[in-house]
Formats: sequence, structure tokens, C-alpha cells
Amino acid sequence: RTKLSELRDYTAGHRAFRALLNEIAMLMTYEVTRDWPTVPKPVQTPLERMTGHALARTVTLVPILRAGLGMTDGVLRILPDARLGHLGLRRNEQTLQPEPYYNKLPPDVAETEVLLIDPMLATGGSAVAGITFLKEAGVRSMKFMCLVAAPEGIQALHQVHPEVPVYTASIDRQLNDRGYILPGLGDAGDRIFGT
Ligand code: PRP
Ligand code: URA
Repeated sequence: RTKLSELRDYTAGHRAFRALLNEIAMLMTYEVTRDWPTVPKPVQTPLERMTGHALARTVTLVPILRAGLGMTDGVLRILPDARLGHLGLRRNEQTLQPEPYYNKLPPDVAETEVLLIDPMLATGGSAVAGITFLKEAGVRSMKFMCLVAAPEGIQALHQVHPEVPVYTASIDRQLNDRGYILPGLGDAGDRIFGT
């Protein structure tokens, strides 16, 4: 909450914003991955053999472009072996509908544990479209992780994809009439990239 408050502050420049966003993403990854299944893995220590643990499935991290890129390094600090898929979705400022413009996923993404990331869940349109796309690619196990969520977005997501767990650092009050989250943090992409 303290880091999120610093990040919401309109005086935070893109350097501070990026650092804080990645720090929070890293801390959240601990919670998000808490229940991922593991399998036994033999380990030879310098003293003897033992049975350790390894993740049961490989991990694919999928940031929704652009703003999801702002969380990627933080998540990779905890999951350095993850592969990266990319999903380009641009929200039309008039209709508030997501418009896809790019995608690239690992070929065996369907067999992996997928973590879809985007700092903002506003109307939910982008997250719904992202999850639909991943399901069409055959993904069976995924979670969605964001930083700030509007109640409207959570509801929309649960309505279309009720089985996909949503992790957020904050549930904010509401959307304004332009689809921005209140109190929110403004336009995440612009604040990350200084645009
Ligand atoms: C922002 C944000 C989400 C989306 C959330 O991205 O990063 O992807 O809006 O809004 P929604 O829940 O109403 O769909 P935007 O489309 O502005 O693109 P950007 O990341 O390139 O700034
Ligand atoms: N996208 C953002 O970046 N911020 C919002 O408040 C809503 C959508």
C-alpha cells in the first residue's frame, strides 16, 4: 500500500513510476504463484542426495502491451525461467473497446502455466479479450494480475471468465465517464513510458 501510494502520486516521474511498478509486481508474484503445483526433483547437495521441488509446468508470462511491459521485469525477478508471450491491445478512446494489433506466443503455450499481466483493469474489455485469446490458443491454466482494478472491470471479467483468478493490489472506487479508474493513477502506459 505504501509503494502503491507513492506510485499514484501525480508528481512521480516515469523513473520512479517504473521502479515502483516493478517492485510491486515482484512482491505480488509471490502471492500469485503460491499455489502452483510442484513435482519432486532429485537434488545432489554437497553432502547427500535429497528430493527437492520443481514447478510442475513451465511458465509463460504474457504482458498486455504496452502497459503490461511495466510489470514484466518485476515478475521475471521471481520467475527468471519464464518465457514471454506478447499481446498488443489498444483501447479505443471513443468506444472503450480493445483493438488487437500484435500477438506472439510460445508454440507450446497451451501446456504451460500462464500469467497475464496488465497494471489496469478498468472496463475489463482488454483483460476479457486477452483471456479469450489465450483460451483460443489452448491455454488451460492461467491467472490475471493487475495493479489497480475498478469494480466494474472485476465484474465484467468474472462474468465472462469466472474460473480465471484475478489478483490486484487495489480495488478502487469506480470508473469515470471516460473509462478511467478513480482514484486510480492516470494513464499507466503514458506514465511508464513518458509519452
Ligand atoms: C490501458 C491498460 C489496459 C486497458 C484497461 O491500456 O493498460 O490494457 O487500458 O482498460 P479496459 O479495462 O477498459 O480495457 P491502453 O489500451 O490505454 O494501451 P497502452 O497500454 O498502450 O497505454
Ligand atoms: N487505462 C489506464 O491506463 N488507466 C485507467 O484509469 C484506465 C485505463
